[in-house]
Amino acid sequence: MLETVLFVDDDRAILEFAEEVFRDKGCNVVTMNDPVAALRYIGQEKVAVLVSDNNMPVMGGLELIEKANTVSPETVKIMMTAYADLSVTLCAINKCQVFKFIPKPWEPREMLNTVKDALRRYRTLQIMHRENEDVLHSLAQTIELKDSQTRGHCDRVASYAVQIAKALCLSTDMQREIKYGSWLHDCGKIGVPEHVLNAGRKLDASEYELMKNHSSWGADVARKANLSEVVINIILYHHERFDGAGYPCGLRGEDIPIESRIVSVADVYDALSSDRPYRPRFSQEEALELVISMKGKELEPALVDLFVTCCQPS
Ligand SMILES: [Fe+2]
Repeated sequence: MLETVLFVDDDRAILEFAEEVFRDKGCNVVTMNDPVAALRYIGQEKVAVLVSDNNMPVMGGLELIEKANTVSPETVKIMMTAYADLSVTLCAINKCQVFKFIPKPWEPREMLNTVKDALRRYRTLQIMHRENEDVLHSLAQTIELKDSQTRGHCDRVASYAVQIAKALCLSTDMQREIKYGSWLHDCGKIGVPEHVLNAGRKLDASEYELMKNHSSWGADVARKANLSEVVINIILYHHERFDGAGYPCGLRGEDIPIESRIVSVADVYDALSSDRPYRPRFSQEEALELVISMKGKELEPALVDLFVTCCQPS
C-alpha cells in the first residue's frame, strides 16, 4: 500500500503544484486547504508525512503540527514557510518536532528529496516501533514460562483492558501503552521464588508477603528500562483496590491511575475465569457475577459496569 503524504496550504495553486510534482512518484498525495479538516484526516487515516504551510487562517501550521503530534505522533512533519523568524523556528523545532523546513517558493527537486527523507524516517520509526513491541511481548511470554499457572493470561488481560480503554475513548497511544502495561503487569514475578510462584495451593502469610513484592519489583525494572509512566503505573498499582485496601501503597479511588484501575478489572476477571491448581475456573457468568460483587471494594464500579456491558469476553 502506498504511503500517504498530506499537503496542507490555503493556497490552492501550491496544492495543485504539489499534486503535479508528486504524480507517479510512488506515494499517495492528498491535498487539503483546510487545516481543521486536515487534522481530522490525520486522526482517522495513516499519514506518513505531513507537509504544512505556516500562515493559514483559522489554524496556523505550528498549531496544526502540534495537534497532529498528539493524534498521530509517528507522522513526520515538514513545514513550508515564506518567512520564518527565530521564535517560529525554535517553536517548530523544540515544541513541535518539525523534521525539516522548506522555504517558499520551493523547487520540485528539493521538495521531492525532503519528502523522500521524511518517508525514510517514517519507515525507520515504524520498524523500531514493531521491534519494541516484539521485545515487550517476548518478555511477557518469558515471565509466563516461569509462572505455569498463568499461560496466556497477559494476552487476555491486554485484550480485555484495551477493550475497556476503547469503550472509554482513550487515545490510541494510551490504548497501546495499556496493552504493553497489561503484558508486563506481573513482570516482577521473575523475582519471586518458583516454590512460591508454583505452590499449587493458597499461600501462607509469609509467602503472600513475599509475593506482594512483585508489583514494586516489576515497577523498578520498568523504570530502569525507561518504559512509559503508564506502563510503570500499571505494574506498580495493579493490586491497589478501589476501597484503599490494596497494595503496595493503599491508594484509594481515583488516586489510583486510570490505567491501573482498568487493568485491575481485566486481571481479576481473567484470574477468575482461568483454572488454578487449588480451584477450577468459574464459568463466564459466575466470573462476571463475582466481578460485579467487587464493585466499590476491589474494583471501580463504573469500569465494572463498562466491562460487563461493552466488553463481553469472547
Ligand atoms: Fe499481579
